[in-house]
Amino acid sequence: MLVDAYQRPIRDLRVSVTDRCNFRCTYCMPLDQYEWIDKKEILTFEEITRLARLFIQFGVEKIRLTGGEPLVRQDLPVLVEELSALHGLKDLCLTTNGALLAEKIESLKKAGLRRVNISIDTLDAEKFKRMTKRGDLNKVLEGIFAAKNAGLAPIKLNAVIERGVNDDDILPLVEFSRTHGFAMRFIEYMDVGNSNNWTSAKLVSKKEILEKIAARYPLKEIGRERGSAPSVNYEFVDGQGDLGVIASVTEPFCSSCTRVRLTADGKIVTCLFAQIGHDVKARLRAGASDLEVGEFIGHLWRNRTDRYSAERLEALKSSNYDPKSHKKIEMISLGG
Ligand SMILES: C[S@@+](CC[C@H](N)C(=O)[O-])C[C@H]1O[C@@H](n2cnc3c(N)ncnc32)[C@H](O)[C@@H]1O
Ligand code: SF4
Repeated sequence: MLVDAYQRPIRDLRVSVTDRCNFRCTYCMPLDQYEWIDKKEILTFEEITRLARLFIQFGVEKIRLTGGEPLVRQDLPVLVEELSALHGLKDLCLTTNGALLAEKIESLKKAGLRRVNISIDTLDAEKFKRMTKRGDLNKVLEGIFAAKNAGLAPIKLNAVIERGVNDDDILPLVEFSRTHGFAMRFIEYMDVGNSNNWTSAKLVSKKEILEKIAARYPLKEIGRERGSAPSVNYEFVDGQGDLGVIASVTEPFCSSCTRVRLTADGKIVTCLFAQIGHDVKARLRAGASDLEVGEFIGHLWRNRTDRYSAERLEALKSSNYDPKSHKKIEMISLGG
């Protein structure tokens, strides 16, 4: 079994299928202008599928398609179909902002997609527009219910909580998800990328999020899926569903992190907060054999020592953390 320098196996692959996005969420893409990756530098579906097959040979069981906004990538169902046919893959999932989901859900389902995570940070249409700069809440709600009507399950709803912006949306989101049978995943606001001006003051911690919810709807901890998933899950004591919190800032899960990322332009990245990616596309396009590409992947993973969130917490505790001192790859190209 392939393990890294801290004995962590490789189990999950996140593929950013595009760096483009139809939203500009303030916590993710705050700039006015972005320089997009040249189209010919973006991995083709054949290249992604070939790499996915090799990753599966090393132990990957789960693939998440993300971005940028994965649904702006043309013909995404073709990739879904190719990936869902891969032998040994146990789970294929999509993370989307939901804006294009209603129109694409049937073809995605036909291609083999069984479940989806949809981001929704507020149920207030005006605030939604402010937070995403261009999103239409109604379109996203349409997408969520289209996924439900198409029979996808479970449907998880992701919300990033930012102090003073949408911390008052926690309970309405919980109530919405309980009513309709969705599973909320609250995400601590993180210092991803280099331009979201993250400060710890904007963070609403897992503890605070849970206190707010449990005061109204008592909760019981059920733990992490497979022991290594980012989300710590809770069920409502009244039996009406469950929710999770992803606390990468206040309760880092680096010690059990089994995730590898593939950027839209073909770089392998071993941590969400990495400073560099490792160019596998150059090898593919230079004609490397599966054995050679496999050796490259094996070498990278065996030498992996990333534990950025754990180090950040240590620095935050000693008031010695400056997010700007560590230049990271933008989340849109490496896949959140
Ligand atoms: C980068 S997005 C890509 C997929 C898709 N466009 C979407 O929004 O779901 C993946 C996830 O990362 C989350 N995310 C983006 N920026 C974040 C930040 N600064 N802190 C925490 N989560 C963040 C988003 O809310 C989303 O749930
Ligand atoms: S969080 Fe998703 S929808 Fe929002 S800007 Fe980032 S990639 Fe786009």
